[in-house]
Amino acid sequence: MLKFLTCFIILISYSNSELILEKVLLLSRHNVRTPLSKSLPQTSPRQWPSWREKSGYLTSKGRLLEGYMGEFFSEWLQQKGLIQNQCPSDDTLYVYANTAQRTVASAEAFVTKGYSDCNITVHHSDRADPIFSPFIHNSTFKFRQEALNQMKDYLNSLHLNTSYTTIENILDYKNSPLCKQEGLCDMLTDENRPMVITGKKPFISGPLKLSKSVVDSFIMEYYEGFPSNEVAWGQIKSEDEWSTILNLSRAYLNAIFTIKLISLDLSKPLLGYLSSFLLNDNSPKVVLLMGHDANIYTVLSAMNFKPHVLHGQYEAVPAGGKIVFQKWFNMLNGSYHMKIEYVYQTADKMRNGVKLSLDEPPEFTTLELKACIVDKDGYCPWNEFKTLLEELIA
Ligand SMILES: *[C@@H]1O[C@H](CO)[C@@H](O)[C@H](O)[C@H]1NC(C)=O
Ligand SMILES: *[C@@H]1O[C@H](CO)[C@@H](O)[C@H](O)[C@H]1NC(C)=O
Ligand SMILES: *[C@@H]1O[C@H](CO)[C@@H](O)[C@H](O)[C@H]1NC(C)=O
Ligand SMILES: *[C@@H]1O[C@H](CO)[C@@H](O)[C@H](O)[C@H]1NC(C)=O
Ligand SMILES: *[C@@H]1O[C@H](CO)[C@@H](O)[C@H](O)[C@H]1NC(C)=O
Repeated sequence: MLKFLTCFIILISYSNSELILEKVLLLSRHNVRTPLSKSLPQTSPRQWPSWREKSGYLTSKGRLLEGYMGEFFSEWLQQKGLIQNQCPSDDTLYVYANTAQRTVASAEAFVTKGYSDCNITVHHSDRADPIFSPFIHNSTFKFRQEALNQMKDYLNSLHLNTSYTTIENILDYKNSPLCKQEGLCDMLTDENRPMVITGKKPFISGPLKLSKSVVDSFIMEYYEGFPSNEVAWGQIKSEDEWSTILNLSRAYLNAIFTIKLISLDLSKPLLGYLSSFLLNDNSPKVVLLMGHDANIYTVLSAMNFKPHVLHGQYEAVPAGGKIVFQKWFNMLNGSYHMKIEYVYQTADKMRNGVKLSLDEPPEFTTLELKACIVDKDGYCPWNEFKTLLEELIA
């Protein structure tokens, strides 16, 4: 009897080994890129650092870091028994990137390092790809009006005075070309003007957008490994100052991507793609989707996740970070489960170029959907997940 009990207890405590990973979808943001904004020189009298790559391109540091992700995930997928030690075909691993250079190059970095002896195709469209484009689809006046009002309400709810003052000081904004030539000298009072145009990305012109671009550049400088006195010209003196200015970029991205009405509309094609993969038994075992922060922001908002914290990261949607959707099968009782984790590298490890492996893994943060409550190990019932997806794409 005692023997039987011991056995039983061992079985329970090792019950995870009774779970088999059947399907994985990685929804990824491209890795480190050069700044996108053309207006940076207007925001400060200081000299912006120069980058080797063209604006908006994946940097060689970004390629290195994404290669590490590829190496890690190929080991992880092999450990989980999903892709054995052989070259996966499209039926096993399907890699799909948005058209932009930084997304295609990120996906290429991932597969060239992860599957170095293989010839894996990175699928992508030659023109703007609706799956990855965070464009407004609804063409009704009512939608645009509602979206605008909700963006304005959100903007009015923000308390960003301290953040604006801090970024103005870092930039020496009073001496910037914008102030001297165009009279835009006060971020606290200059107007933020939201725009909702069918077929375009939601947009807000004004100091919030400007400061979002500035903070984005600082973060990329940090990841890229610029010397400390060149990251934001050495003007960010403490972690507190980082969090103060980060509120500006979070506020901007939240305003354009996370209002439910907007995120549901923007993410519809991508959610359709996710469903066609996750809810289809004959789809490839693993899919890598290489997109943008917009894709992750809108999917997280549309699917209605509970709040989460990514420790060690400045960004809410870090470069190279991946939402990893996992469909698990429980052999003991024949039931299916969904587990969703945010897998990302900390800002410091990105800056230091730390190589990843099963012994030195990236960060794993469990995510929880409001419509699919997880158990202590992070699994939620598959049927609840399936119902949610079906409702979202209906
Ligand atoms: C790799 O695959 C591509 C597309 O399937 C093909 O055109 C190319 O010839 C292949 N290269 C090698 C070295 O097998
Ligand atoms: C467009 O938006 C309006 C207003 O929110 C909504 O009533 C309508 O159902 C939406 N149309 C589609 C196709 O989503
Ligand atoms: C923020 O600054 C504006 C402009 O100077 C001012 O009108 C407003 O009262 C300030 N808000 C707070 C909460 O201090
Ligand atoms: C940043 O925003 C968070 C919540 O949005 C708030 O709690 C915090 O006080 C803000 N920090 C600063 C320095 O403004
Ligand atoms: C199967 O086992 C899991 C894990 O113990 C449990 O959460 C789930 O409810 C069970 N499913 C069925 C159909 O019994």
